[in-house]
Amino acid sequence: MIIAIDGPAASGKGTLGKQLAAHYGLRHLDTGLLYRAVAKALLDAGLLPSDEAAAVAAAKALDPSRFAPAALKASAVGEAASVVSAIAAVRAELVAFQRDFAARPPGAVIDGRDIGTVICPDADVKIFVTATPEVRAHRRALEFAASGQGMDEAAVLADIRARDARDMGRAAAPLKQAADAHLLDTTNMDISTAIRAAIDIVEAGRVGRGRD
Ligand code: C5P
Repeated sequence: MIIAIDGPAASGKGTLGKQLAAHYGLRHLDTGLLYRAVAKALLDAGLLPSDEAAAVAAAKALDPSRFAPAALKASAVGEAASVVSAIAAVRAELVAFQRDFAARPPGAVIDGRDIGTVICPDADVKIFVTATPEVRAHRRALEFAASGQGMDEAAVLADIRARDARDMGRAAAPLKQAADAHLLDTTNMDISTAIRAAIDIVEAGRVGRGRD
């Protein structure tokens, strides 16, 4: 079974993805880490995230088995990731890895921005997770505080709005809900309610497909 989860920054896709994968015994891929790793390679080399040739070279050289997720979660890396991810040639470099990950048994939960639309258009279940920008900023600010990165909530909100605009407005695989994706608005849900709702969506999808 392949479950595709898409949604804007800090919508809770990652947490939901991890929990759904554990619930169904599937592998989990947070595809944001791929774009974040490309961005971090450029930042570490003192290059601009808009440097197309360097970004494509970094995408080609990517080794996901060596990712250090904590370093990739920094706010500046997320912002730079949203710049490199608008480069079509960078996205093209990362397609095969994502599709191969999805295809390996027993299946996977994959989260990102274009999973239901571009990477796995035939996913068994597609969920588009969202919440208001204010609620997402509040959750992200709490996460930063918990990890010791002091971040002003207003600055987090500005970053989220800028990323939403860039991710939805780009020409290459923009963030959008696939026509056959289920909308999960978690604005008024705590995490356990959101997980329950996501499982209900998957179960309804499985019944619809004869539970294969
Ligand atoms: O999900 P996360 O916030 O870690 O993603 C960082 C950035 O990577 C996003 O703002 C988005 O621009 C980009 N991204 C993407 N396509 C994906 C996953 C992430 O364009 N499938």
